[in-house]
Amino acid sequence: MTNQKNDPHQPLARASFGDDFLWGCSTSAFQIEGAGSADARVASIWDTFCATPGKIRDGSNGAVACDHYHRWPEDFDIGQSLGLNAYRFSIAWPRIAGGPGAAPNGAGLDFYERLVDGMLERGLQPWATLYHWDLPQYLQDQGGWARRDTVAAFVDYADVVTRRLGDRVRHWITHNEPWCTAMHGNLDGMHAPGLRDAPTALQVCHHVLLSHGLATPVIRANVPDAQVGIALSLHPIRAASASAADQQALLRHDGFRNRWFLDPLYGRGYPQETLALLGEAAPLVLEGDMQAIAAPTDFVGLNYYFPEIVRDAPAAGFLRTEVVLPQDRERTDFGWEVAPDGLTELLLRIAREYRPAEVYVTENGSSYDDLVQADGSVDDEARRHYLVRHLAALRAAQEQGVPVKGYFAWSLLDNFEWSEGYLRRFGIVHVDFGTQARTLKSSGRWYREFLHGRNER
Ligand code: NOJ
Repeated sequence: MTNQKNDPHQPLARASFGDDFLWGCSTSAFQIEGAGSADARVASIWDTFCATPGKIRDGSNGAVACDHYHRWPEDFDIGQSLGLNAYRFSIAWPRIAGGPGAAPNGAGLDFYERLVDGMLERGLQPWATLYHWDLPQYLQDQGGWARRDTVAAFVDYADVVTRRLGDRVRHWITHNEPWCTAMHGNLDGMHAPGLRDAPTALQVCHHVLLSHGLATPVIRANVPDAQVGIALSLHPIRAASASAADQQALLRHDGFRNRWFLDPLYGRGYPQETLALLGEAAPLVLEGDMQAIAAPTDFVGLNYYFPEIVRDAPAAGFLRTEVVLPQDRERTDFGWEVAPDGLTELLLRIAREYRPAEVYVTENGSSYDDLVQADGSVDDEARRHYLVRHLAALRAAQEQGVPVKGYFAWSLLDNFEWSEGYLRRFGIVHVDFGTQARTLKSSGRWYREFLHGRNER
């Protein structure tokens, strides 16, 4: 295999990825839009969570965020100047849902229509995510994703949105990172709604997957030549040691972190070994659910950040595994391991074991404590290096036959990083949250030059 990242003589050129390769950036509604009460948007579980003392590390919220709701033309101009040909965003369900029993909110639909037109005018192919964690609070009050009725509510919402935007958006991602929706939201309580209950978390997880499966044919019916998929947060799992116990821990962890999602989506049902571990926490699965979840998709979206190293931990939860953080690894300022080879590994595995028609890296990026220089510039050499190495890792997988067709950097803008508030910056564009000034970081300048074919590494 040609391993470009170890070969300084091998250029990393845009052209080598193929002419039809998609080059994008990703964002999500709650993290950038702000305008929390504009145009009759209803409250979301994240508004409630942010208003609960102690949940967000800097005590902040999404009320203003990057004010993208008002500043999107400037943001899309930046995207266009970078040379992007695609842009992944999410639609805020709270802007579309009118409230209990109410008709959909026309102003919310109008906003997304304008937003999409703004992308199209600038040559950015719109990639819409329907659910990026911002459930309307009134649905949570009725039981949230733990309640089966929320599945039907999501399918209705998907129907409304795709009827309206289906003439201009072909690419649809049903859910972003169902693991996080379910587990951070309902098991470790780190995300909204902040619950800590294993049976709830597992039921939420099942309903989220079911809603993906049931929404998929609805999207297809509304969108000519639709391309439908889901974005999963997957991790290469490595064992902390060669001991038999740690090797078994690796399999258990992988069974839940990765296979719990991939297996049912590709028609294999939930992994039996994992189901057995769940015991009483196993979700209620009705007849037909697994078939629905396996609705054929056009692509799988991979959100890749870091590998997980695990050891056997007999007292730790239903998986009996514990994630360890060896000291000797390169890490971002957020503490996440930097392991570009993990991206190659995951792409190869997905292609080998599940054979999706297409794979897209729907997120990949890094958080560093960027310093603004006296002249206003932001020199984020570490993020640039991260980006270059991950693109080389993607290319390595592509060279080995993985049908990976696009890369979306997380993120276009520094934004609201969930329970970390504004303390973690992932953008290739710096945002001054006091003035809302945008400044292209050196990573962004590198991406721009690379996309214009003007630099090779
Ligand atoms: C995963 C999520 O999809 C996104 O919302 C988040 O900001 C990034 N990864 C970084 O944590």
